[in-house]
Amino acid sequence: MNSKAILITGASKRLGLHFAKTSLDMGYAVIIHYHNPLSDIEKKQLFKQQFYNKVFYIQYDLSDQPEKLLDRISDFPVELEGLVNNVSVFSKGNLSNISHFESLFKINFAAPMKLSQRFSENVKNGWIINITDSNNRKFNRNFQNYRLTKLFLEELTRQQASLYAPDIRVNGIAPGAILPSNEHEAKYFLALAKKIPLGRTGDIQSLMDAFRFLVKTSFITGEIVKIDGGWNLVS
Ligand SMILES: NC(=O)c1ccc[n+]([C@@H]2O[C@H](COP(=O)([O-])OP(=O)(O)OC[C@H]3O[C@@H](n4cnc5c(N)ncnc54)[C@H](OP(=O)(O)O)[C@@H]3O)[C@@H](O)[C@H]2O)c1
Repeated sequence: MNSKAILITGASKRLGLHFAKTSLDMGYAVIIHYHNPLSDIEKKQLFKQQFYNKVFYIQYDLSDQPEKLLDRISDFPVELEGLVNNVSVFSKGNLSNISHFESLFKINFAAPMKLSQRFSENVKNGWIINITDSNNRKFNRNFQNYRLTKLFLEELTRQQASLYAPDIRVNGIAPGAILPSNEHEAKYFLALAKKIPLGRTGDIQSLMDAFRFLVKTSFITGEIVKIDGGWNLVS
């Protein structure tokens, strides 16, 4: 029988790679979607050798016909059970820059929406987890477009949970300050920890615990789990 598999978008690096490693630890095969090119040597370095036969790769630009990514899964000897919509573009811009909004909307909202729709047409007993952002309700002049697209993704999670039940569960995880993108952000995270109710940033383990919980808990759908130490509670 084919292994049960999870497709994770943007899974060759950073948080996506953590979701992939956790999925392997849970006994799943993983389909690693990635964007920028990866050599065979780089691929080999991502996972322990014991997992090589449970990892499959697809390179794809999700800005154009994202749903067609799902058509490539039939190349692999797996039975698809889960989809993690992890890909996003995080860049500065507000609604005065409409073309910026549109470019983020395409990756942060339209791609997960179309992937999830195609997934629901192909999978009869499965689940989807959308990765949103715990701070998407706060006004932020610099990141307004990013936050708005993530807010839409949360509403999509609830809407698709209703639409795809009982075959597919749809939930979300909203991370807070977990993994800084650069040195500058790392310094910001250090200062931010003092403002966060639980007093720290960067808790990848809690994020993976939430992931395991949503994968395993078969009576939950339409929920967004915030993993941010309470950051969303403070201004
Ligand atoms: N890091 C945090 O602390 C944090 C906080 C809140 C929310 N989140 C959310 O958690 C998720 C993962 O965060 P992260 O920081 O690990 O993300 P990230 O470093 O920004 O990675 C995003 C991924 O998206 C891919 N991507 C971008 N444009 C693409 C396109 N056109 N087609 C296909 N793939 C594309 C990137 O691939 P390439 O690099 O190859 O383009 C990369 O793998 C995201 O949804 C993010 O919004 C993260």
